[in-house]
Amino acid sequence: MISKRIGILGAMPEEINGVVGLLNNKKEVVKGMRTYYTGTINKIEVVVVFSRWGKVASATTVTHLIVEFDITHLIFTGVAGAIDNKLNIGDVVIANSLVQHDLDARPIMNQFEIPLLGKILLSPPNEMLDLAVKSIGDLIKDNVLMTLIASKEQDQFSLLNPKLIVGQIASGDKFFSNNVDKNNLLKVLPEVLCVEMEGAAVAQVCFEYNIPYIIIRIISDEANETSVVDFKEFVIQIASKFGVAIIKKLIQ
Ligand code: ADE
Repeated sequence: MISKRIGILGAMPEEINGVVGLLNNKKEVVKGMRTYYTGTINKIEVVVVFSRWGKVASATTVTHLIVEFDITHLIFTGVAGAIDNKLNIGDVVIANSLVQHDLDARPIMNQFEIPLLGKILLSPPNEMLDLAVKSIGDLIKDNVLMTLIASKEQDQFSLLNPKLIVGQIASGDKFFSNNVDKNNLLKVLPEVLCVEMEGAAVAQVCFEYNIPYIIIRIISDEANETSVVDFKEFVIQIASKFGVAIIKKLIQ
């Protein structure tokens, strides 16, 4: 019997390529426009795949991981736009709750309520949260993430040693790129730290299939008028490297 098989779902193709480079006994399966890479990291079985972007795409990918690959745990990493102004580019957010900010079946249900589950927020199991907080906390305390980035790039992005923050992440099929949308979101969901396009959908599928999961995000932009410029460059040069280091630390 398989005791553990970890699904590693990433929203950055560059990061997925880096994680695939860590695999022993690598094999590939192509299905539904996705390439699933199986193998081991530190003797633990893993399946690595690019989630693709948005709620539908990522929910489909995680469902395939659960149903076809029998994963027992799920780790999701990617980037996010900062909503809370205490976050800087490069900081790491671990979700202790997730909400779909674009889910609105009023007046039949409350705003943001997930149909049939009767819940607005989903939370990962404590053991996954504790593992992620300890592992990423150690990476930051030991200054590991910054040593991966050349000083020229640290200056280009005004990168400081990242902070780790645990809190609420909002997901939806929307890229936030102006302050008006950002402030409107805060009016209805005042506790949101950052926004992205997959996490809460992945959390819903994992909840429904009873798969322990964790959602981790690196802040790539401020979800405002500068976000497009920051986002692309940051993902390629910084976030994908942080993502690989985080996965490496979590799988041991
Ligand atoms: N992922 C990274 N930055 C984002 C933003 N500004 N909006 C939505 N998803 C994102």
